[in-house]
Amino acid sequence: MDLQIAEQKINEIRSLLNQYGYEYYVLDNPSVPDAEYDQLMHELLELEERFPQLKTSDSPSVRVGGAVLDLFEKVEHRTPMLSLGNAFNEQDLRDFDRRVRQAVGDNVSYVCELKIDGLAVSLRYEDGLFVQGATRGDGTIGEDITANLKTIKSIPLRLRENVSLEVRGEAYMPKGSFEALNKAREERGEDLFANPRNAAAGSLRQLDPKIAASRRLDVFLYGIGNTGASGVISHSEALNYLDHLSFKTNKERRKCATIDDVISFVNGWVEKRPHLPYEIDGIVIKVDSLEQQAELGTTAKSPRWAIAYKFPAEEVVTTLIDIELSVGRTGVVTPTALLVPVKVAGTTVQRASLHNEDLIREKDIKIGDKVVVKKAGDIIPEVVNVLGDQRTGDEVDFHMPTHCPECESELVRLEGEVALRCINPKCPAQIREGLIHFVSRDAMNIDGLGEKVISQLFAEKLISDVADIYMLTREQLLALERMGEKSVSNLIKAIEISKSNSLEKLLFGLGIRHVGAKAAKTLAQQFFTMEKLAEASKEDLIAVNEIGDKMADSIVAFFEQEEAKELIKELVTAGVNMEYKGAKPVSAEESDSIFAGKTVVLTGKLEQLSRNEAKEKIEALGGNVAGSVSKKTHLVIAGEDAGSKLTKAQELGIEVWDEEKLLVELNK
Ligand code: IVH
Repeated sequence: MDLQIAEQKINEIRSLLNQYGYEYYVLDNPSVPDAEYDQLMHELLELEERFPQLKTSDSPSVRVGGAVLDLFEKVEHRTPMLSLGNAFNEQDLRDFDRRVRQAVGDNVSYVCELKIDGLAVSLRYEDGLFVQGATRGDGTIGEDITANLKTIKSIPLRLRENVSLEVRGEAYMPKGSFEALNKAREERGEDLFANPRNAAAGSLRQLDPKIAASRRLDVFLYGIGNTGASGVISHSEALNYLDHLSFKTNKERRKCATIDDVISFVNGWVEKRPHLPYEIDGIVIKVDSLEQQAELGTTAKSPRWAIAYKFPAEEVVTTLIDIELSVGRTGVVTPTALLVPVKVAGTTVQRASLHNEDLIREKDIKIGDKVVVKKAGDIIPEVVNVLGDQRTGDEVDFHMPTHCPECESELVRLEGEVALRCINPKCPAQIREGLIHFVSRDAMNIDGLGEKVISQLFAEKLISDVADIYMLTREQLLALERMGEKSVSNLIKAIEISKSNSLEKLLFGLGIRHVGAKAAKTLAQQFFTMEKLAEASKEDLIAVNEIGDKMADSIVAFFEQEEAKELIKELVTAGVNMEYKGAKPVSAEESDSIFAGKTVVLTGKLEQLSRNEAKEKIEALGGNVAGSVSKKTHLVIAGEDAGSKLTKAQELGIEVWDEEKLLVELNK
């Protein structure tokens, strides 16, 4: 067969496979028997093997899974992947509706969708071609799992139109695939997955795409990153547009004109939920109009235009066998209930935090009690209450110890706190927990260095502070339990990558008392380098918005310690970055830009920049971005479909720019 004929044949087969795949996996309406699809795929693979120059990245053959990866690359999301606020009852939904109507008026309609219990993914298409798929990660940076996502047959490799866009949705494992997978694993004597969500996440986090290909995963898309070019003006239109482009969306959605309609939709699904072929954990309610969505905006974590109604948590009864104590990073000693293992909301639960002694007294918990257990927010196991009438008299009272279970120093109760603390700074438990915190996702985000590996390294005395992580050698890591060549070289790469993290990740990772992830970001933006922050006085710190007295004291005290100075020196020597890498907001006085000291309001949809990007850039030039238009507003940037804010600006005679003008001024 010559090249030309092969190319023709390959194109023919690809187009048939694409069509059959779409009918089968997206429309759920196959037009040919499975064997015919398999036969065609076989032919295609053979032809591509003979003529490798004809392979393409959008060939249906990539569905079988390509080369094994060394590591998932990190992907920065162009717009952050937010999460949703939760509603747990009818009142929460009515409150949400009231907030929405207060902000945008009474002319609101909602779209209700099933909340699929899987993991969030973002898919990027350029000129109609699927180019990159990523996990949510920490919302700003996810992982590139393109090769694994390409094995999901309902994800189109090429769209019906040559558009460039980013779509978001939920990848999941259908209940049937989950049961079949666990059955096969049981037969092979392998560990079982606790629920479909873990199984889906576990499959997409494998470096070998053939594993994902064998797992029968699926996806529902529920949103478009940039709707600008499509002419779409509502969420319901966006979903229809996704259908049109050949994406798989969930059809159990409903447009609701009132919150009463929303509530009846939600209640209907409480009954129907068990009969679905996939797991859902709630209903997502979204304001339909995109203009109203833009007007409502987002908080740091979640949009104000949507909410997730979570189904009530399942409650089960089990026995509390014992209470165990653990010492956290800040020395707090926490009692944990050890339970007779019991299945709750899809996973087996055998431990639940009891938080502190007061809570144990309040709930009158004794060792040996029959207790009701649920998963709060469907994730964290919690003892709801004790079944007092089932006591036999053999139950035993629990008392908190007077000394640290790990280092035996005396525990103290700080003024105004319920918790008991170990205040020995050399307590091994605290040091170990601090190390676990340092490598965690919101801190230095070092993959492959989880709790288990850190605990081993610490027990073997290979690390005693965070700087030691950067001194680890290949040989030391290879000597650990369950660490092969591959995982060691991945770990070394991950440690290396973490050296270039922006300052806020390191600051948060250092575990300075009262400095959370958000404060760390503010500090990094304001002081820019570790050196400047270390030199800052209490007054300098308090002058920063959001930094209070307590935090300022704690920061000053941290940098005064000789150990801290030494540690930072060691980190610098190891090559760890000490600078903030994002845009730096400057004060109006420092800036000579046209934005200096101006209050700017963004409205409507921007094409080239996300709202966040625009805000960061304006602030970097000394401007201040506000949410609503008032007499104090100096300037309004009106994107496409701008609404009431634009009207108000015009009424007040405020200067209005379009996006193009904004870009010109930003780039001056
Ligand atoms: S909308 C801005 N719609 O629920 C946030 N999310 O915290 C947009 N999820 O992991 C999310 N089904 O992936 C939306 N129909 C649906 C969803 C859905 C599942 C997930 C989402 C995220 C979590 C929200």
